[in-house]
Amino acid sequence: MARIVVTGGAGFLGSHLCESFLARGDEVVCLDNLSTGAIANIEHLFGQPGFTFVEHNVSDYIWVPGAVDGVLHFASPASPKDYLELPIQTLKVGSLGTHNTLGLALAKGARYFLASTSEVYGDPQVHPQTEQYWGHVNPVGPRGVYDEAKRFGEAITMAYHRAHGLDVRIVRIFNTYGPQMRPDDGRAMSNFIVQALKGEPITIYGDGSQTRSFTYVDDEVGGFLALLDGDITGPCNIGNPNEFTISQLAEAVLEITGSSSTLTYEALPVDDPTQRVEGVGPELRAQESDRAFLLGERAVGDVAELRVDRVDHGDAARRPTAMDAEVSDRDEREVARHRARDVP
Ligand SMILES: NC(=O)c1ccc[n+]([C@@H]2O[C@H](COP(=O)([O-])OP(=O)(O)OC[C@H]3O[C@@H](n4cnc5c(N)ncnc54)[C@H](O)[C@@H]3O)[C@@H](O)[C@H]2O)c1
Repeated sequence: MARIVVTGGAGFLGSHLCESFLARGDEVVCLDNLSTGAIANIEHLFGQPGFTFVEHNVSDYIWVPGAVDGVLHFASPASPKDYLELPIQTLKVGSLGTHNTLGLALAKGARYFLASTSEVYGDPQVHPQTEQYWGHVNPVGPRGVYDEAKRFGEAITMAYHRAHGLDVRIVRIFNTYGPQMRPDDGRAMSNFIVQALKGEPITIYGDGSQTRSFTYVDDEVGGFLALLDGDITGPCNIGNPNEFTISQLAEAVLEITGSSSTLTYEALPVDDPTQRVEGVGPELRAQESDRAFLLGERAVGDVAELRVDRVDHGDAARRPTAMDAEVSDRDEREVARHRARDVP
């Protein structure tokens, strides 16, 4: 049994991680300032042995009493809508928050795990994106607040590894979907599902030919745990290597939901990547067996497999999420109250 600190544990991915650690008998200290996450994602964990929640902004100094074996830094606004609304908070949690969590891991002798992102590749000029690709990011564009914060996070994590010998893991997460995704997070998957369920036109930015790949959250979190427990420092891409276009995604969502929504097209946002799919670099290819283990069989799927995921995970509606037929909006006053605490 280990004692694990998860920052951003009340968010989409963090809440699944907390569940997974508790399910395997670990203790979890979840730190979250609820700026983009919600208690609703973790309230089923309150009262479970070994679960502690602390409402805290990890861009401020962190101290967790007692032994800590692992620190997983997942706190950050993550959807473009969120980080464009919270630009300075995003830069702070990716820089100061990463520094603070690294300091905690070092002081406790814990293994450190950084949630980075495929966005470090920016609008890539190499396709697919392997871990060896250094990326093509516009530092001064609107998305730079997220991309550069994550790139700084990776750099300082490697500096702690080299300078202090800290045991670190870096994951570059590709688009993930599943229960606990916020209906209003502005991501393509949530937008399409919500619009289809409401019978509203589905908004496609650009002509829909831009590509992405999507991984079901259980597969993604399984990959995180395997990376955490294994010996690859990383950075390690974890995602679905099968790409499809945004138009194909919209068509799949229409079919799955049985919706008669029409498609509408709007201008592509600034610096929106045209192609994004996970690649496997030579270094990791050499460790192919580890990697197959990391990803698991179910991560490999094309757009048709979305339907299987939706049916397989029919319990997705246990809390309000974008996967639910019943679309509930968050209490905007509650959101504003939490965000006001992290003044830029
Ligand atoms: N979901 C994806 O597809 C995806 C893809 C790439 C990378 N990631 C990374 O994974 C992590 C989690 O993403 P998510 O999709 O679960 O997003 P999310 O918004 O659902 O979760 C992020 C959580 O971090 C918390 N948080 C934000 N700033 C904080 C701060 N200063 N102090 C404490 N808590 C703070 C939020 O309240 C929220 O609960 C992020 O670091 C994100 O960059 C996610």
